[in-house]
Amino acid sequence: MDFIPGIEKLYFESIDSTNNYAINLARNEAAKNGTVIWTNFQTAGKGQRGNFWESAKGKNLTFSVIYYPKNLHASKQFEISKFVTLAISQSLKKYYQDIRIKWPNDIYAGNKKIAGILIENTLSQANILFSVIGIGLNLNQTIFESNAPNPVSLATLTGREYDRSEFLSEICTEINKAELLFNQQPEELNTKYLSELFGYQQWMKFRSEDNEFEGLIKGVNEFGFLQVRNKQGMLDEYAFKEISLVL
Ligand code: BTN
Repeated sequence: MDFIPGIEKLYFESIDSTNNYAINLARNEAAKNGTVIWTNFQTAGKGQRGNFWESAKGKNLTFSVIYYPKNLHASKQFEISKFVTLAISQSLKKYYQDIRIKWPNDIYAGNKKIAGILIENTLSQANILFSVIGIGLNLNQTIFESNAPNPVSLATLTGREYDRSEFLSEICTEINKAELLFNQQPEELNTKYLSELFGYQQWMKFRSEDNEFEGLIKGVNEFGFLQVRNKQGMLDEYAFKEISLVL
């Protein structure tokens, strides 16, 4: 079945985590490819690295998209992040110019985080059976209470409020386009992704477990490793957990 993000939308006033609900739905029933679960409030919203995702009641977009890819090997799972981050970046750019994808899974406005993505995959042997794409996008929240680094919302940046349901539909349209690009013109997806990548072709500061260093961002390979040229001119490749950008 073709992937049509938003083909069905399930809304909840309150839920623990839209990702959890989506995973159960995709596992227990044959959900339509592109089903969206969205909510006014998450009681246990999940962020990256086991963190809690802060989102004030009724203010932002917190939703998950169920995706059944066609023959996608687990080692290529970062391709999903590529087209999803590109889609979110494109959606936001209509309202605010300075939007970038911060490798691996964040969307930044200037030097602040406006959206985060948590993709959870379920495998069937070596392929991805289904993927739950969880997106938290700060639209209308103006005060943040957790110790998340540098949060910001579109409302704070532009001085107006946004209709969440309309914005959700716009993102679904962009995810649809970006996924088509991934299937039909992967080279083009890569080019567009790199043009939105924070720090691309720039010397940036990184932190690894035991070190801080500078490197030139050269790209992201098919496995999602960040490619960084070091001061000696060699190209190093890093997995998610090995390094982070220091802003
Ligand atoms: C991050 O830490 O940057 C990722 C945040 C992902 C949050 C979203 S909100 C909707 C979906 N459901 C969850 O529990 N988490 C994701």
